[in-house]
Amino acid sequence: MVSFRKLGLLPLVVTPVIGSPMQLERRNSTDKAPRNKVIIDNDYLAGQWDPYLLALNAGWEVLGLTTCTGNTWMPQQAKHALAMLEYGNLSCIPVYTGALYPLVSTYERFHSWEAVHGDLPWQGAFAPYNATLEAEGWDPSGGSDPYRIVQAAFTEGFPTAAAQSSPGAVQFMIDQVHKYPGQVSIFAAGPMTNVALAIRTDPEFASLAKELVIEGGKIDVNLFQFNLLFDPEAAKIVLNANFPRILVSGNVANSVFATDEWIDEVAADGTAAVSMVDPSIVLNSTTFFIDVDVAYASPNYGNVHAYQKALAPPNLRNITYVLQINETRFKNTLKSIYQKPITCADLS
Ligand SMILES: *[C@@H]1O[C@H](CO)[C@@H](O)[C@H](O)[C@H]1NC(C)=O
Ligand SMILES: *[C@@H]1O[C@H](CO)[C@@H](O)[C@H](O)[C@H]1NC(C)=O
Ligand SMILES: *[C@@H]1O[C@H](CO)[C@@H](O)[C@H](O)[C@H]1NC(C)=O
Ligand SMILES: *[C@@H]1O[C@H](CO)[C@@H](O)[C@H](O)[C@H]1NC(C)=O
Ligand SMILES: *[C@@H]1O[C@H](CO)[C@@H](O)[C@H](O)[C@H]1NC(C)=O
Ligand SMILES: *[C@@H]1O[C@H](CO)[C@@H](O)[C@H](O)[C@H]1NC(C)=O
Repeated sequence: MVSFRKLGLLPLVVTPVIGSPMQLERRNSTDKAPRNKVIIDNDYLAGQWDPYLLALNAGWEVLGLTTCTGNTWMPQQAKHALAMLEYGNLSCIPVYTGALYPLVSTYERFHSWEAVHGDLPWQGAFAPYNATLEAEGWDPSGGSDPYRIVQAAFTEGFPTAAAQSSPGAVQFMIDQVHKYPGQVSIFAAGPMTNVALAIRTDPEFASLAKELVIEGGKIDVNLFQFNLLFDPEAAKIVLNANFPRILVSGNVANSVFATDEWIDEVAADGTAAVSMVDPSIVLNSTTFFIDVDVAYASPNYGNVHAYQKALAPPNLRNITYVLQINETRFKNTLKSIYQKPITCADLS
């Protein structure tokens, strides 16, 4: 059901693009203007390179990668993040460990909800433990040991470095928005536990960030609501917080790349990232007010409710929701980042 779980190593070199590939402008090191900065918070699996490669390619500074449990347990994901950086010669970007558990949800609570309302198509770390699958190279799941590392899942290579736990992801995010007020985009590609903890730890966190960016297949497609369903309480805290701007990329690229399977598989992460770094790629967007259902007994637990202004309850935030991007340009940009990926040598 979930193809990205078995997503292997992406080619770092792909066939040249016909015509002139649109390449986002690379950083000009003599340029003194403050660089755009981003922290990418994700539940990393093998192969999820495109958000940080797109950001780097556009001249953005990737301050760090932060991880929290979602697709699999956080310790395994932190190692995936490290391994992908090592493979891409990008180990100058630090990785920070984050939340091991969702705010309220537990393995048992999650499955009790499913027993009443039906199974979700993707359960991530909360999928029942399956020794056969793990032996085949699937990432660990199950309720007993969140620290278990399954080496067979590292198609991108097993990392030699360790993630940083002091400060952890939450304090790192808080420190960075204070260091660079109004300049740091928070790119939330996984469950929003770390971001929620940062908001609850520091009342200034959200307002000091530049914006929150969310990949939006997560919101309008059943499968990808996983990120909200895995930690609904965190998602509500985050989407109700006073970020100056919340950008959500809709399910804009799902049917576009049927002939380019590998692009199709990364497109969900990429549309949000490319809309963040290259706003002019957005051809159509809309604005509405948003909330997350946190009634555990509800069949809509963890689902989004959207409102127009006149009907919205007080204190909700409006989001900019991307409906359409320039697909030609997106495809060319995605290819160009893999043709000549940025490495730490380019960043020094
Ligand atoms: C970098 O910026 C400087 C000053 O704006 C400019 O003179 C120079 O041509 C730029 N270099 C590149 C490679 O764009
Ligand atoms: C990383 O560096 C190694 C050794 O210099 C090189 O062989 C490899 O092609 C580099 N990988 C990338 C993605 O640049
Ligand atoms: C483990 O996964 C395999 C492959 O999907 C499946 O055939 C098997 O029934 C699963 N085992 C358990 C105990 O769920
Ligand atoms: C949504 O918020 C933005 C600021 O982020 C504001 O400019 C815009 O007017 C708001 N839209 C509505 C419909 O309130
Ligand atoms: C933007 O998308 C909406 C919803 O799909 C559609 O009704 C509208 O015509 C689109 N606008 C443009 C300029 O394409
Ligand atoms: C989309 O991007 C391509 C390549 O950059 C460009 O030629 C085309 O005019 C753009 N289309 C729109 C509708 O902006």
